[in-house]
Amino acid sequence: MARPIIRRTAIVVNPRRVVQQFAQCFDGSTPELLVRAPGRVNLIGEHTDYNDGFVLPIATEQATWVAVAPGQGRAVRAHSVALNETVRIDLDNPGPPGGSQRWVDYVRGVAACLISSGYRLAGADLLVDSDVPVGGGMSSSAALEVGVAKALLGISGDMVETVELALICRQAENRYAGVPCGIMDQFACLLCRKDEALLLDCRTQHYEHVRVQLQGACFVVIDTQVKHALGRSEYPLRQQQCRQGVEYFRQMDRKVQALRDVSPEMVSRHLSQLDPVVAARCHHVVTENQRVLLAVDAFKKGDLGQVGKLLLASHESLRDRYEVSCAELDSAVEVATGVEGVYGARMTGGGFGGCVVVLAREDAVKPLTEAIEKRYNRVHPKPARILKTLAAAGAGLETL
Ligand code: GLA
Repeated sequence: MARPIIRRTAIVVNPRRVVQQFAQCFDGSTPELLVRAPGRVNLIGEHTDYNDGFVLPIATEQATWVAVAPGQGRAVRAHSVALNETVRIDLDNPGPPGGSQRWVDYVRGVAACLISSGYRLAGADLLVDSDVPVGGGMSSSAALEVGVAKALLGISGDMVETVELALICRQAENRYAGVPCGIMDQFACLLCRKDEALLLDCRTQHYEHVRVQLQGACFVVIDTQVKHALGRSEYPLRQQQCRQGVEYFRQMDRKVQALRDVSPEMVSRHLSQLDPVVAARCHHVVTENQRVLLAVDAFKKGDLGQVGKLLLASHESLRDRYEVSCAELDSAVEVATGVEGVYGARMTGGGFGGCVVVLAREDAVKPLTEAIEKRYNRVHPKPARILKTLAAAGAGLETL
């Protein structure tokens, strides 16, 4: 089966066109519902979610759209516009958990996990189109999971509480796509609100919407279009190194359950006894949690200069201590932060490729684009793609 492709030109999904394509694909029929499930950009709080820490994502204007109508019997037919491929899933036998990360695994994973959680699904025809870049950084997979889940539930007339739905979608990704991700992406896709970032406590799952006062600034996403295969094996390795850190600190204090319970002072005090790699990973996580809370304060005060400094500090920590950056991400951050009117920039998402998020004044977007053209695209074989976004709304039904 074909693998997801990376689109090279900026496309924007037109919802009306999605409805037309649905008719072309499914014998002239009209969809009953249209779901929009956004991508996300994590502003700060990277590799903290699986350490019970804090994250601060926004939903993006780029989104995955799913048009849906009742199907025949217990069959789900799903068509991907990007891949021009239709797959069929039997709800009575969605197949075993896998790990191949083909798009069908996300669709059948969501169906299987909803069913095993006790929800009743009916057959459905789905058409999926998306302008969330595939391949790292903006969480196209969570957008697909949430979009499909909402479409299937909507057509089946069943309801799931939002937090539970986020957990079910994450379970689908863990078990059916074999990606051991944390809870940030699915929560962001479902719970974000327009003009607000989502401060999520990944331990308690409590969240707060934080008004993002942009005062004539915006978020620019630089998609390096790079995805190093390394990332797949390094992500579980980082989780393991964090667990090693937890084990170490638990010997001293039985209350330590996760790196969330470890302070920067504790890490500093034990630097010489800890394995240097584990110490560096712990240092990143415990300081990153602090940076998230400081960034929330700075956003609340409208202090974008301070937010920018925290973004850059986060990038440096991810690069030097967590070691999940790569040459392309570092170079994009360097070029961006050299542009007048840019407050700060950092890699966003799991790393080893994917995207950089930049906080910039609106009038800096043009010079930033030019700088990327001149100083990044001429050096790296794959040209970067630039997207602009404000903090958008989380997933929901759209009028047809
Ligand atoms: C990926 C995962 C998230 C999170 C980030 C790193 O995007 O899907 O759960 O762990 O990496 O912050």
